[in-house]
Amino acid sequence: MRIVSIVGARPQFIKCAPVSVELRKNNQEILVHTGQHYDYELSKVFFDQLGIPTPDYNLGVGSASHGKQTSMMLIEIEKVLLNEKPDFVLVYGDTNSTLAGALASVKLHIPLGHVEAGLRSFDRRMPEEINRVLTDHASDLLFVPTKTAAENLKKEGICKNVFLVGDVMYDVLKQSITIAKQSQILETLAIQPKNYFLTTIHRPSNTDKIQNLSQIFEALSSAAKKVIFPVHPRTEHFIKKHGLERSIGRNIHMMKSASYFDFLWLEKNAEKILTDSGGIQKESYLLKVPCITLRDNTEWVETVEDGWNILVGTNKEKIMDAIHNFNPTGEQRDLFGSGDASTKIVKILEDYGSNTITYN
Ligand code: UD1
Repeated sequence: MRIVSIVGARPQFIKCAPVSVELRKNNQEILVHTGQHYDYELSKVFFDQLGIPTPDYNLGVGSASHGKQTSMMLIEIEKVLLNEKPDFVLVYGDTNSTLAGALASVKLHIPLGHVEAGLRSFDRRMPEEINRVLTDHASDLLFVPTKTAAENLKKEGICKNVFLVGDVMYDVLKQSITIAKQSQILETLAIQPKNYFLTTIHRPSNTDKIQNLSQIFEALSSAAKKVIFPVHPRTEHFIKKHGLERSIGRNIHMMKSASYFDFLWLEKNAEKILTDSGGIQKESYLLKVPCITLRDNTEWVETVEDGWNILVGTNKEKIMDAIHNFNPTGEQRDLFGSGDASTKIVKILEDYGSNTITYN
């Protein structure tokens, strides 16, 4: 099969890495990078570390408002699809690149697969929620990471061609943890295993409101330990624009976005992780590190049900309480499969291509 894979933002590079390896065993993959993320720290370093092939197309779309960014991607992706005439298009996750890829594909009647389908936060103000819902309803094959995701789709009437394959980010994590051990990041930052907190903040609901970001910084500044804070460019711009450096305590170590291996090693050795990212909530669970989620909702509800993740929003008192008292010890379930999601996805795709698929 000739398959076009569309990626554009940091989490998508991670998700496509193992799928790309599997795809290329028996098929031709044409990799398209929309250019949504373009900084070295958010893009190229992931290609280098995870051995992702150089994209066949880089659309260079870059940053813009949601409508403009998505529409520029749509125009450019359509040109690629008309030129390449693939048998199938694969999109990943929930970014604007995902939605643009999905729309371009269905408008040209090219079968579409969505990796990480079925996730819902039930918060329609999140741009990602709209991207997920629309992409799922446009897809021909839906690869879901969890049972909850499959149930979410069922409630929306999507029952056909939903495949519970597990989570591709677990594939990458499993394959990378040994290499991550060689990271020197703890030495560079002069921190000891299990004696620091790790935080990431990039959701518009947190970064675009001074009140929310200040509450988070005040809580983090009161932690008695060092807080490692790789800063997303969106957050960095906002901090500078509003002079928020003043509310950032001396225990908070701000650094540029970390590479995949360094970040994995920082996660594994953290005492606790405080984040508003979806992928990091999942990685915390897999690495058995308590996760304090700086949001009021999550797509990864199982991690909360199992007691390893707590939702605290941006309430200063709740964040401080979790920093001091959230110490999960409970049993964990196999929530995210066995780390072979990419093999399963490619097998299903190949069956689909040879018309041997059984519809469920
Ligand atoms: C996007 C995704 C989000 C994902 C995140 C991962 C959407 C709607 N959001 O959010 O789901 O969790 O990626 O990081 O698709 N910028 C740079 N350099 C870059 C890219 C962006 O400086 O390489 C800055 C620009 O000022 C830009 C801002 O970051 O305006 C936001 O970037 P954007 O791509 O719009 O969304 P993210 O916040 O990165």
